Amino acid sequence: MKIELFEMERMQSTWENVVDIDLSESGVRAVTLRELAALGFDLDGALDTPLSYSQGNGTIELRQLLGRHYPGATLDHVEVTNGTSEANFIIALTLIREGDEVAMQLPNYMQMWGLPRSLGAKMNLFRLRPDKGWEPDWDEFEQAVNERTRLLYLSNPNNPTGRILSSDDMERIVRRCDETETWLVADEVYQGAELNGRQTPSFWGMSDRVVVTNGLSKAYGIPGIRIGWIVGPPALVQECWTQHDYTTICPNKLSDALARVAVGNREKLFARTRAILREQLPLVRDWITTFDGLLELREPDAGAFCLINYKSDLPSHELAERIRINQSTLIVPGSQLRLENCFRLWFGAPPEKLREGLRRIGTELRNVL
Ligand SMILES: Cc1ncc(COP(=O)(O)O)c(C=O)c1O
Repeated sequence: MKIELFEMERMQSTWENVVDIDLSESGVRAVTLRELAALGFDLDGALDTPLSYSQGNGTIELRQLLGRHYPGATLDHVEVTNGTSEANFIIALTLIREGDEVAMQLPNYMQMWGLPRSLGAKMNLFRLRPDKGWEPDWDEFEQAVNERTRLLYLSNPNNPTGRILSSDDMERIVRRCDETETWLVADEVYQGAELNGRQTPSFWGMSDRVVVTNGLSKAYGIPGIRIGWIVGPPALVQECWTQHDYTTICPNKLSDALARVAVGNREKLFARTRAILREQLPLVRDWITTFDGLLELREPDAGAFCLINYKSDLPSHELAERIRINQSTLIVPGSQLRLENCFRLWFGAPPEKLREGLRRIGTELRNVL
């Protein structure tokens, strides 16, 4: 397989640790080891832990803790991976064959754009309509999910719009997947990061064709330990494990132990995330008002990112490059999300970084708008 470049991830991994201010992220500012120790992680015990291979599909304890959040899921329904991205990756390797059709919402996290195409699949895209509050375009959806479609990938809450599907939308999507015998891969990594505090329902349990991916990177605020998971029918999960043997063999042993503390304290970590979102989105709102209508904020339902439209013909990648080069500040240009005249801004950064980043972006925007 010759894999194509994942534009946004490459841009982030090239610059996010180099610039003064990174506002390209999408989770909240990360939880520290000290915070996890306060929640019960045994730091001293970790010093004596032999750094051997861990259980390949995740320790029994971690899979048990995860399974509790997915009614009816047994140990065999759960596979622990290295991040949500590995979960998505091995599902794609397991399910997609050359010539298959793969459906996907747009805009979206673009992992399931490049990967199926590299595997020889045809992509069937359907848009979320900005003029309808990011509701799916149902005509396009019906065409995208058809008898030839192998898999539908969606992110809910969606990256980058932050929109949460209504329960009617969810039912309509599941029904169509059942009718067409399409696997529904629901990436729920922003579940728990809702601004109104009401948890996004999972697709889990709505049909036998549902596979959920998730991880600790966003709503839990712990991207650095690289823990994700798949929940699906045992036969499929077993096949995913076969792929996993070829990718990374097992999750990192310390990460599995940290994840047990994180998942066991899920509600506290979600509350931390939601408090950060609620405190910091108003900083962006206030900043937007200083532009006299030249910027428009598209408020998210969930996630620590928002889309901002700007009134200028300057292509978004040029704007983002100017901001990076002249202000050492990183944002995601709309073009990397298949949108234009807009950018994605991370507001989950430490507040002093967010304030300074907004000041710098503002300086550059005032020069170009
Ligand atoms: C929808 C979605 N899925 C997966 C990922 C990758 O997550 P992880 O860091 O857990 O691999 C991201 C990262 O931005 C994302 O937005």
